[in-house]
Amino acid sequence: MAKNKTQFLCNHCGSVHVKWMGKCPDCGTWDSLEEYKTPTFDERAARTSKGLRATGDLAQGATAVAIGQIEEADTPRTKCGIAEFDRILGGGMVPGSAILVGGEPGIGKSTLLLQVAEALARAKGPVVKGKQATRPVLYVTSEESAAQTALRAARLGAKSANLLVLAETNVERIINQIHQHEPAAVVIDSIQMIYKPDRPAAPGSVTQLRDCCMDLVYLAKSAGVSVFFVGHVTKAGTLAGPKIIEHIVDTVVYFEGDRYHSHRIVRCVKNRFGSTHEVGLFEMTGSGLVEVSDPGKLFVEQYGPGGPPSGSVITAAMQGSRVLLVEVQALTASSVIGAAKRKVSGASSDRVAMIIAVLEKRAELRLAADDVFVNIAGGVKVAEPAIDLAIALAIASAHLNRPIAAGTLVVGELGLGGEVRSVPQLEHRLREGARLGCGVGVVPRMGGNVPKLGGMAVHEVRTLGQAMATL
Ligand code: TYD
Ligand code: MG
Repeated sequence: MAKNKTQFLCNHCGSVHVKWMGKCPDCGTWDSLEEYKTPTFDERAARTSKGLRATGDLAQGATAVAIGQIEEADTPRTKCGIAEFDRILGGGMVPGSAILVGGEPGIGKSTLLLQVAEALARAKGPVVKGKQATRPVLYVTSEESAAQTALRAARLGAKSANLLVLAETNVERIINQIHQHEPAAVVIDSIQMIYKPDRPAAPGSVTQLRDCCMDLVYLAKSAGVSVFFVGHVTKAGTLAGPKIIEHIVDTVVYFEGDRYHSHRIVRCVKNRFGSTHEVGLFEMTGSGLVEVSDPGKLFVEQYGPGGPPSGSVITAAMQGSRVLLVEVQALTASSVIGAAKRKVSGASSDRVAMIIAVLEKRAELRLAADDVFVNIAGGVKVAEPAIDLAIALAIASAHLNRPIAAGTLVVGELGLGGEVRSVPQLEHRLREGARLGCGVGVVPRMGGNVPKLGGMAVHEVRTLGQAMATL
């Protein structure tokens, strides 16, 4: 009979080692290895069918049913009233859902969630048996003291009697409080600081993070309480990041950009109850985050009478269901021979490398000896290929030192052959550009479906060369 083999499992990165060590050789974390016995074949077998049958558990499990016979659950939603936040969640919070809010430290997670908690505490709950059920909202602060949270709340004007604050890090005590107060929603700020006392691992380790999150998600589902988790995205990697619990929760939203800009972009990257990539826009002010419902030309600089400098191009990017006008900026400068740098911020660097190659090959721009910098102004991140043409024209404009006239909107994907390809929702983008006063549009061919836009001259281009000639 096979014997149990003792191994050591790292509670930080999950790697398995044959002997105990003070430091995990895979992730470099100290004191993270724990003894772990691999179950023998017999133990595994006993746990599965034989064991289940012996205890009668098999008959009690769920039975498979035809998909057509399952009743669709309609998902009632509670709107908190902060429209930008409701939009990210796909039209409000679904009771019993688990939502992860991630972002760099200091970006505004606690501020946003305290505002959301206050708004939910004020929002009217659903009507149950003719009575308006108003359930409190519990804000669990595990990083700051209750007094610190109160200070922030005063700044935000949050003073609803329905908003309860709990300074606690022990997950069992938190769950106990949830049972006591039966809140409609719970905010855990942050998940990386709470722990389960019967686990030896430190708070913030993979084991603690996963177990605490799992316990709270089970509670959310069974009690119909929505749980918001705050997770820090750490660069150093000393604590386990929120990525580890992404698969456990229903909705994942991340703060984008950096804290040096006053605008905050909150993007939904996963949503079991709505569309993903929906984006909420906020501005950090002295009294908390303020919604920006019409971004308009928020991310586009208004240049004086001299017009924009060379290397600046306006494009229209889709952010969820909304069009955002953004400014692509490029700069080229002669480089140390043989060590040309390419630095990109806000767009994909692989994509920019490809665009530079296309510019070299198809537009005969000599960039090999130049440093190329590309930046999407305002800290916005755009992953779409629809901004390829704008990036290409920005680099060309910078390289040739020829500014592109103000009010020119450039949209299109670039192929390796230098061809300009069509992009989704082109009409939507053009309409938004026209609304915001762009006088010229440079777009891929629309096959005779060019919309009538008051005041905008639309130029359809087939190739990169044509686009450059047009401008
Ligand atoms: P915070 O929500 O504490 O960030 P996180 O929880 O993501 O770490 O936000 C911290 C920053 O926001 C801090 O630098 C101060 C600033 N802030 C304002 O500008 N206005 C406000 O009303 C508040 C509450 C914070
Ligand atoms: Mg915080």
